[in-house]
Amino acid sequence: MNKGKFITIEGCEGTGKSTQIKLLKQKLKKKIKVKCTREPGGSLGAEKIRKLIFAKSKFDNWSPITEALLHISARSDHLEKIVKPNINNGVWVICDRFRDSTIAYQGYGNGLKIKVLEMMQDSIFNKFHADLTIILDMDVNKCLKRIKKRKTGMQKYEKMDISFHKKVRKGFLEIFKKNKKRCVILEADEDENIINDKILKIINDKFKIIF
Ligand code: TMP
Repeated sequence: MNKGKFITIEGCEGTGKSTQIKLLKQKLKKKIKVKCTREPGGSLGAEKIRKLIFAKSKFDNWSPITEALLHISARSDHLEKIVKPNINNGVWVICDRFRDSTIAYQGYGNGLKIKVLEMMQDSIFNKFHADLTIILDMDVNKCLKRIKKRKTGMQKYEKMDISFHKKVRKGFLEIFKKNKKRCVILEADEDENIINDKILKIINDKFKIIF
C-alpha cells in the first residue's frame, strides 16, 4: 500500500489556517482518505498536554524551555499515535501546525536557541518532517485585528504583544527561506477560495495527483 502524505499548515494566528484545512479536506476526500488534526493536541495524550500548556492557573507560567518541552512531548504522542499510523495506512494527514511552530514561537518568539530546538526535534523525531508545509503569511496588525474578533476569546500566545507576533512572523519567513524544498509561502490576505485553489495547485504539482 502507498503511504499517505503529511501536509502541515503553518503561520501566525489569524492567517486562516483552520478555514483552509476545512476547504482542503472537502476537496481531497473526493479522491483519498484524509485525516485532519492539530498541534498542540491531536491525540488523547497530546490534548491533555495542550490543557497543561494553556492552563489558566497560578501554575501557567512555564519557563520558555519547559513550555518548549511540553510542545515537543505533545508532538511525540501525536506523532506515534495518530500521524504515523494514518500515513502508514495510506491516509493523507493534514496538520494544523507542527515542528515549525516550535521554532517560530519558542525559538524566534520566546528567544530559545533555534539550533538547540532543531537538534532536539531532529533527534527525538528521527528527522521526521512534513512532505509539504504551507505557510500562510500576513501583516501582523491584520492578524491581530482578526484574532480580536474571535468569539472564542484570546488564548495564551494571542495575548502576547505585537513585538512577539512580529518575531514569530519573521521566524516563519526564515523557516521558509531555509526549507524551500518542503515549504511554500502564500499571502493570506486574499479571498479564502482563491487561497485554497492555490494550495490545491501546489499539492497537484508536488504529488502529481489532480484533485
Ligand atoms: P491554535 O490551536 O489555536 O493554533 O493555538 C495553538 C497555539 O500554540 C498557537 O498560539 C501557537 C502555539 N504553539 C506553540 O507555541 N508552539 C508549538 O509547537 C505549537 C504546535 C503551537
